[in-house]
Amino acid sequence: MDPLIRVSGLRFRYPDGTEALKGVDFELFPGETVILLGANGSGKTTFALHLNGLLEGEGQIRVCGLPMDKISLPEIRRRVGMVFQDADEQLFMPTVMEDVTYGPLNLGVEPAEAMRLAREALEQTGMSAAHAKAPYHLSAGEKRRVAIAGVLAMRPDILILDEPTTSLDPPGQRDLVDLLTALPQSKIVTTHDIAFARAIGTRAVFFEKGSIAALGTVGDIASRFGWEPLPRG
Ligand SMILES: Nc1ncnc2c1ncn2[C@@H]1O[C@H](COP(=O)(O)OP(=O)(O)O)[C@@H](O)[C@H]1O
Ligand SMILES: [Mg+2]
Repeated sequence: MDPLIRVSGLRFRYPDGTEALKGVDFELFPGETVILLGANGSGKTTFALHLNGLLEGEGQIRVCGLPMDKISLPEIRRRVGMVFQDADEQLFMPTVMEDVTYGPLNLGVEPAEAMRLAREALEQTGMSAAHAKAPYHLSAGEKRRVAIAGVLAMRPDILILDEPTTSLDPPGQRDLVDLLTALPQSKIVTTHDIAFARAIGTRAVFFEKGSIAALGTVGDIASRFGWEPLPRG
């Protein structure tokens, strides 16, 4: 089976000189949910931002067989749905419906078809009733769902979610597990929440100082790197 994403030797340095990625090799296969674990600052977000061309480092990236170049970038952006850590960065339109139609409209989809895709995505994420609301009035969990709806409306093959449990309460986290489990796309998810990672992950990679130090099951990686939750007290 060919991987959906294949990354080899990816290096990236921020303009201030920070060497954030020091040669990352990675593959995502169909049906997988790969969890990116690792300390703050280990390079997870920087890595994720390369997968739909928001950052451009040295090395090779192929997505669905397409090379990451100017010609393929629009298609790669459609196929790889990126859900940012901060939902407020993603939701900027006056209403939920406008936010969710934004992506398809931006791709040149006809308005009526964009509305149809948006309605379907809001249905999938359980947010249909909020279509006319202002995103900033929603709860953290609802904002997360709308942000996910916004990428689903582009019919992606791959979902990338950067710390999606950020600011969710426990019921919101459980709802997110149910939602992600129900979505058929292959996924890459960064998180520090091992219970969440175990619930959705099919395997994990551990980032350390800009490289992938190990790969394995979520449980193996978590215990090997002392990444288990604090003991109950
Ligand atoms: N915009 C930026 N400019 C300079 N350095 C950055 C920037 N964003 C992140 N970094 C640095 O790059 C490294 C990797 O960061 P990041 O990818 O955000 O890690 P993680 O998501 O694992 O917490 C860190 O050293 C971080 O300080
Ligand atoms: Mg990060």
